[in-house]
Amino acid sequence: MKALISLRGIKKRIGSEEILKGIDLEVFDGEFVSIIGASGSGKSSLLYIMGLLDKPTEGEVFFEGDKISYLQDRKLAYIRNKRIGFVFQFHYLVQELSILDNIILPALKSGLSQSEARKRAMELLERLGLRGKENRKPYEISGGEMQRTAIARALINSPRVLLADEPTGNLDSSNTQKVMDIFKEINKDNTTIVMVTHELDLARQTKRIVEVKDGMIVRQEYPPLFV
Ligand SMILES: Nc1ncnc2c1ncn2[C@@H]1O[C@H](COP(=O)(O)OP(=O)(O)OP(=O)(O)O)[C@@H](O)[C@H]1O
Ligand SMILES: [Mg+2]
Repeated sequence: MKALISLRGIKKRIGSEEILKGIDLEVFDGEFVSIIGASGSGKSSLLYIMGLLDKPTEGEVFFEGDKISYLQDRKLAYIRNKRIGFVFQFHYLVQELSILDNIILPALKSGLSQSEARKRAMELLERLGLRGKENRKPYEISGGEMQRTAIARALINSPRVLLADEPTGNLDSSNTQKVMDIFKEINKDNTTIVMVTHELDLARQTKRIVEVKDGMIVRQEYPPLFV
C-alpha cells in the first residue's frame, strides 16, 4: 500500500540546533495518528513539514507518492490548498469576517463558486454544531465555537488529510471531547488525520500514537481502546 505521506530521514536544523534528528514516518490512507511528546520535542516542527508549510534541512517528503522537493511551486500550492487541511493551535480566524465567510475563504481561493462554497459551508456549520452562528464575527462566539469554525475552514475543500496542532489546547473538557468526536466522525468518512496533542487521554482515542522525544520518534503504539 502506498503511503499518503511519507517522511524519510527528516532532519531540521535551526541555527546550530538540530530540532528534528532523522524522522522516518509513513501515514496511510484512513489513519488517525496522534503525535505526543514533551514541550519542545519537535511535534509542531514535524507537523509543519508534513503539511508542506516548512522544508526539512535534510531528508525527503513524499505526498501521495510524489517527491515534494521535485514539485513546482504551483503543484505544491495546489496540494497545500486542496489536499491538506490545517488546524493550528491558535485558530487565526479573520476578525473582520463573519464565521461563514471565514469558512468559505479557502474554497473561494481554490476556485469553487460562491454558491457551491456557501452550500458546503452550511453543511459543515450544521455538522459542527455552529448553525445560527454563521453571521457572527469570531469575537462574538466562544472559544470552542472558534475552534470548530477553524475545523470547518480546514474541511471546506474536502482535504485528503487533516493536520491539527493541539486543536483542543485551549478548550475545556466538554469542548475537547466534542472536537474529538468530530475528528472520529470525519475519520470514519475517510479523512486521514494527524493530530498533535500533549494529552495522553486524547491520543488513546486515536488509532496510532507516535511519541517524539528530542526530535526523534521513540515509540509507536496502537491503542487497543480505539472505538
Ligand atoms: N523558529 C525557530 N527558531 C528557533 N528555534 C525554534 C524555532 N521553532 C522551533 N524551535 C525550537 O525547536 C524545538 C522544537 O519546537 P516545536 O515547536 O516543534 O516543539 P513542540 O513539540 O511543538 O512543543 P510544544 O508542545 O511546546 O508546542 C524547540 O526547542 C524550539 O525552541
Ligand atoms: Mg507545538
